[in-house]
Amino acid sequence: MSKSSSVTKAFAAAFVVLTVSAIAGIVTMVILYNTQIATMNPTPRPTFPSTTTGLPPVMRLPKNLVPERYKVFLWPRFYSQIIEEVNVTSANQTWHFSGNTTVYFHCVQGTSSIYLHSQNLDVYGPVVASTDTDEGIRVTRMENHQDQTNFLEIELDYALKTGGNYSLFLAFRGELGYLDGMYSSLYKEGIPAHEDDTDTDRVLIATQMEPTSARKVFPCFDEPDFKAEFEVTIIHRRITTALANGINTDGANIIDDDWKATAFQPTPLMSTYLFAFTVSEFTPTRSSNHRVEINTYARPEATAAGHTKYAADITGRILNYFEGRFEINYPQRKLDQIALPDLISAGMENLGLITYREGALLYEEGVSSLLDKEDIAELIAHELAHQWFGNLVTMKWWNDIWLNEGFASYMTLYAVDAVEPDFKLKDVNILNNLHYAFEADALASSRPLSTSQGDVQTTSQILEMFDIITYYKGAAVLVMLADLVDQPVFDKAIRRYLSDWQYKNTDQNILWEYIQKADDESSGERNIAEVMNSWTKQIGYPVITINTTSGEAFQKHFLFNDSAVSSLSWHVPIRAMRYTTLFRLIWLKPGESAMKGEFVATKGEWILANVNCTGYYRVNYNPENWDRLITQLQKDPRRIPLMNRGQLVDDAFNLARAKLVNVTLALNLTRFIRNETELIPWAATISNLGYFVRMFDRSEVYGPMQMYLRNQVKGLYNSFSNYTANSTVPTDHSSQQIQIKAIDVACSNELPECIEMAQHMYADLMKINSTNNINPNLRSVIYCQAVAHGGKEEWEFAWDLYLRSSDVSEKDRLRRALSCTKKIWLLSRYLDYTLDPELIRMMEVTSSISDVSRNVAGQALAWNFIRAHWNYVGYWNAARLIEAVTGRFSTQFELKELERFAKDYDLGPASSAAYQAIEQTAVNIQWVSENKDVILEWFERETA
Ligand SMILES: *[C@@H]1O[C@H](CO)[C@@H](O)[C@H](O)[C@H]1NC(C)=O
Ligand SMILES: *[C@@H]1O[C@H](CO)[C@@H](O)[C@H](O)[C@H]1NC(C)=O
Ligand SMILES: *[C@@H]1O[C@H](CO)[C@@H](O)[C@H](O)[C@H]1NC(C)=O
Ligand SMILES: *[C@@H]1O[C@H](CO)[C@@H](O)[C@H](O)[C@H]1NC(C)=O
Ligand SMILES: *[C@@H]1O[C@H](CO)[C@@H](O)[C@H](O)[C@H]1NC(C)=O
Ligand SMILES: [Zn+2]
Repeated sequence: MSKSSSVTKAFAAAFVVLTVSAIAGIVTMVILYNTQIATMNPTPRPTFPSTTTGLPPVMRLPKNLVPERYKVFLWPRFYSQIIEEVNVTSANQTWHFSGNTTVYFHCVQGTSSIYLHSQNLDVYGPVVASTDTDEGIRVTRMENHQDQTNFLEIELDYALKTGGNYSLFLAFRGELGYLDGMYSSLYKEGIPAHEDDTDTDRVLIATQMEPTSARKVFPCFDEPDFKAEFEVTIIHRRITTALANGINTDGANIIDDDWKATAFQPTPLMSTYLFAFTVSEFTPTRSSNHRVEINTYARPEATAAGHTKYAADITGRILNYFEGRFEINYPQRKLDQIALPDLISAGMENLGLITYREGALLYEEGVSSLLDKEDIAELIAHELAHQWFGNLVTMKWWNDIWLNEGFASYMTLYAVDAVEPDFKLKDVNILNNLHYAFEADALASSRPLSTSQGDVQTTSQILEMFDIITYYKGAAVLVMLADLVDQPVFDKAIRRYLSDWQYKNTDQNILWEYIQKADDESSGERNIAEVMNSWTKQIGYPVITINTTSGEAFQKHFLFNDSAVSSLSWHVPIRAMRYTTLFRLIWLKPGESAMKGEFVATKGEWILANVNCTGYYRVNYNPENWDRLITQLQKDPRRIPLMNRGQLVDDAFNLARAKLVNVTLALNLTRFIRNETELIPWAATISNLGYFVRMFDRSEVYGPMQMYLRNQVKGLYNSFSNYTANSTVPTDHSSQQIQIKAIDVACSNELPECIEMAQHMYADLMKINSTNNINPNLRSVIYCQAVAHGGKEEWEFAWDLYLRSSDVSEKDRLRRALSCTKKIWLLSRYLDYTLDPELIRMMEVTSSISDVSRNVAGQALAWNFIRAHWNYVGYWNAARLIEAVTGRFSTQFELKELERFAKDYDLGPASSAAYQAIEQTAVNIQWVSENKDVILEWFERETA
């Protein structure tokens, strides 16, 4: 699945991190874990004993029967179109399906009961036969366990023989699910979001099996290491097209006036969670540049308008890249991709039939911005990487899901770099991946990347694995591993690993063996498993403290909670440089409390460790070395590698948060950005200062702070003013990104020329009204700033345009702009509109109110509003709403109000969010009281 994956966990978690890390800085939920933690293991989960032969299985299927091939018939009965002139027959939409399956399996150890999975299905008519002798075996009992196991237990008259081959036939009926299993998706005819033009309803069928929903579609051995071939036939309406994992066998079979059957060739060996099919009226765009037949499906109107073009264009190129890098061809002759109106994650890598959210795949020239394009390229690369990592070579069990997701995230960096080198994704990776992982993994409540199988048993435990640690830490430890053994060695090991284990299942130990072998061939002497297990089997990461006077270095578990005690340590590979000299790789091993000599600075030169941020750790220095680094950054920042310029800022702010350095040190590190022209240092600074903004934008600190940032950004802003004034953008990608950032920082810190520019462009838009000349990259910030500095007219113009606009990204920008006004009565009106689903769609209520609360003028208003209308607004994503609305809370009064709210309101599943908000508020109060004076003084001095 893609990063913003399964709603339950990863999506929610990723969202939290996005907001929290924008907030970054000193935010902490750590106070929750004030207890001393001697051993840093996560809260124990209920474990289930592993299955031993003879006893009934507990959670996992027994291994005595091994499925080899399934023949599956599926018949969803829905109508894809409801025609106005009511024909009674077709007016009755139906949401059920029927089907049957024959699974051919091998008996490894004799047994008289068959266990497989089935959930929410009405299963009947079992037939068991020996395929060796054709002899039937009577079924004496069939029971679908109504518990977390979802076992379908079939008891036989007599035992199957060890070494025998058998078949099991089952017929079944089921109902369509909600976004998992086999589900329906409703949409209106037309281009996505231009759809209001017509009222014709359309329906399609799609599937989402990962991790455990295949059992909701047909009874099967639903565990990743029961790989089998799937030969599927879909019966569907004649006007629709069916797609599945395999290649369509030529010529669909017409059944009658309404129905036809499309049969697909057997798939290669694959896990059940990769099974997929769709039934729709969507149309394909063929990618031309690949020997594999690649088609990207979307609504006919979107295909016709060319919105699939970008995706179709890069897919073939990315596939070529992976084939070259892995030296293994994509294993099928076809690859379909489909843009769906509804999908639980942004993308799902089903073998040969990748599903995407349409908003995440379609690109509209002239309306979508360059950031949308980056997201599309990343997403496609991620899902295509899974065709090897996950689909071809699969983890044995969900405890090692990081082997899927970590590799997909890691390989994405290289694939996007190959097809869109301008995006510089490998550099930006530190903002996109590393900082999220660092944020989540600095809590005492984090979990190890790879847990034991016993800790991951139930579906909800499996879903919990799709979190920030799996995706981001997974990618980060691979970056470190590749760097420490050297990229060519790593690549060689990976090619052998994929080749030896294709169509099979692995765990991380097998991966370490391959790296070890390749490493031994080149240099040897280190124990890869020992090194890597210190990163994958323990929570957290270290902060390395280097004293450049004594040359010593030591490691310590980095935790936000400065009172937590931990004795964890790691095998830390350190790449360091002294001014212009790169050191050889230095190892800091567990138990070595200090190392002599290595890091002595001579002649007042600085030392920088973790060059290019390949290591998964933070670095702290003695004050003298910090000073030298700060001086270097101010004098000639380019001496310090780009990624490290961002990382030094991020490390300093986070070290301050953990009380390992003074907050003024972190602030001193932001001085150099005045002359900085690259995105990474700017983005790291602004995101780390986000917390300062929220804590101080209602206080006297805010004036000097804004003035400081205004002074810092002015030069950068002016360097783009020729472009910006004409609403144009530079040609190269990184300049476009930094232009957006510069305008955003300049306008939100009230740089007069920026505000004027925004107002001027917006005034033109209000005049002309028919054509929008503002470049899509700039619209978001222009709309918001013009509304913020305007009055009723500007706001109402935006509101009007919002109601009339039919494009998703445009509508979204306008909706966000509405929350930017400083006029309380307009914000109040806007909040009232969120109560009317005709005006603000229900799925946007939470984000609209959150937007208002992020505006300092709307903060108190939003807090009153959610309490007054909790029954309506608290219905969706209540936890996110609480997190957003309380984000500024930093006074005793607010704490009291929040406590009363948590007590008096029925918060349901959001009550833990309320308690976290209470803890957070307490942390904020303490942080403000400890830091406000010194920060105010710092900003005043800087701007004097
Ligand atoms: C209604 O639909 C049924 C089944 O598709 C068809 O047999 C029948 O002729 C239709 N009736 C009309 C009035 O179109
Ligand atoms: C359509 O549904 C209605 C109400 O459930 C039922 O009375 C009618 O018989 C159904 N018509 C057909 C053709 O199935
Ligand atoms: C399985 O379902 C298909 C489609 O409905 C049907 O044609 C076939 O006869 C069924 N198989 C058996 C053995 O009932
Ligand atoms: C660094 O080492 C020197 C020499 O041993 C010592 O005097 C100094 O206190 C150390 N600095 C820090 C910050 O530990
Ligand atoms: C660091 O990254 C930059 C740009 O990505 C690259 O040019 C440089 O060679 C890297 N340095 C090291 C020591 O890997
Ligand atoms: Zn994925």
